[in-house]
Amino acid sequence: MMRKCGYLLRRSSSFSSSISEKSRGVESIFAEKENCLRLDGAAFQPSSDALMNFPCRGSRPLSNLPENTIYGGPKHQSYTKRVTLRSLEAKYAKCEPITVVTAYDYPSAVHVDEAGIDICLVGDSVGMVVHGHDTTLPVTMEDMLLHCRAVARGASRPLLVGDLPFGSYELSSKQAIKSAARMLKEGGMDAVKLEGGGGARVAAAKAVVEAGIAVMGHVGLTPQAISVLGGFRPQGKSATSAIQVLEHALALQAAGCFSIVLECVPSPVAAAITASLRIPTIGIGAGPLCSGQVLVYHDLLGMMQHPHHAKVTPKFCKQYGDVGRVIQQALSHYREEVSGRLFPSVSHTPYTIEPTEVNAFLKELHSRGFHAAKDAAAAAAEDKQAFHLVSGPPVS
Ligand code: KIV
Repeated sequence: MMRKCGYLLRRSSSFSSSISEKSRGVESIFAEKENCLRLDGAAFQPSSDALMNFPCRGSRPLSNLPENTIYGGPKHQSYTKRVTLRSLEAKYAKCEPITVVTAYDYPSAVHVDEAGIDICLVGDSVGMVVHGHDTTLPVTMEDMLLHCRAVARGASRPLLVGDLPFGSYELSSKQAIKSAARMLKEGGMDAVKLEGGGGARVAAAKAVVEAGIAVMGHVGLTPQAISVLGGFRPQGKSATSAIQVLEHALALQAAGCFSIVLECVPSPVAAAITASLRIPTIGIGAGPLCSGQVLVYHDLLGMMQHPHHAKVTPKFCKQYGDVGRVIQQALSHYREEVSGRLFPSVSHTPYTIEPTEVNAFLKELHSRGFHAAKDAAAAAAEDKQAFHLVSGPPVS
């Protein structure tokens, strides 16, 4: 049965029905996780005992967590409304656009979470926007796991998808399963993404899904393949190439992928793929006729630290912020205030010492022969601007 879905015709069967029988395990894992805690982004403890005993729920914090001091303490976590394959499926069924943004560390993950984004992708674009490489090729599994763990600590609501980096899944299905499992066990991810829709990639995706790990596919421009693509070039610009992208997407769907990224393909190609699939398409540089959209955090915020950013802002990227400029201004302001001795002022010098303790301290300094130190402390205690006493090299 076909039904009208906005401007697109889609098959009405829900996208879970596209997941092969063997991958049912993935769905039940996600359904189970829905009611469970994410402890440090890694372990999911479904038992009610774990829920009752979790230390952030009003009882004493774990001994290795900081108490509620100047640097804060353990935070309450939100256990509800986690995005799961089921909630994505519901959104897709209602033709509501799925939102995806990349994140690479704790603060970006918190931002993405608080903005209510559905899927947080720890993309291997980290190699370019965070590590300053020209391509994603140098990114390693260890790099990814470090970033994934930080993101898992910061984002508790979105579905977390970890990108399998170049070289971590091409050798064999066994290698792909091993790397994907590490993403979940060591990186705290909920699912993985892999690039390409050729035979070996489809086999790898199928094997990973069969191993119980949800997979997001990625076709069109696949940056890990720039060597064969001849650079970062849009795909599907000829009929032959467009059909190939469609065939790759269909093959990944048959392999059990729960959604597919379409990167840098013309809008009619994205529309055709979206209309042909019964799982969501997530576009980036693929126009509006996709089931959802993804952008790179740094690009959409205007962070201006991408190696190519100043020269080549991706044509498809809308900048929703000018964060790079804000950061630059804040850092320059800080430098000016420190250089001009305006920071820290009294209002940012919060810690006091009782006069009796100051006197005892001064006496002690004097008796130990620390005369310059005593003069500096005495002047500070009297609130004198004693910069000359403390901010340069000691006078011999
Ligand atoms: O690595 C990444 O950020 C990606 C997105 C651009 C889809 O793969």
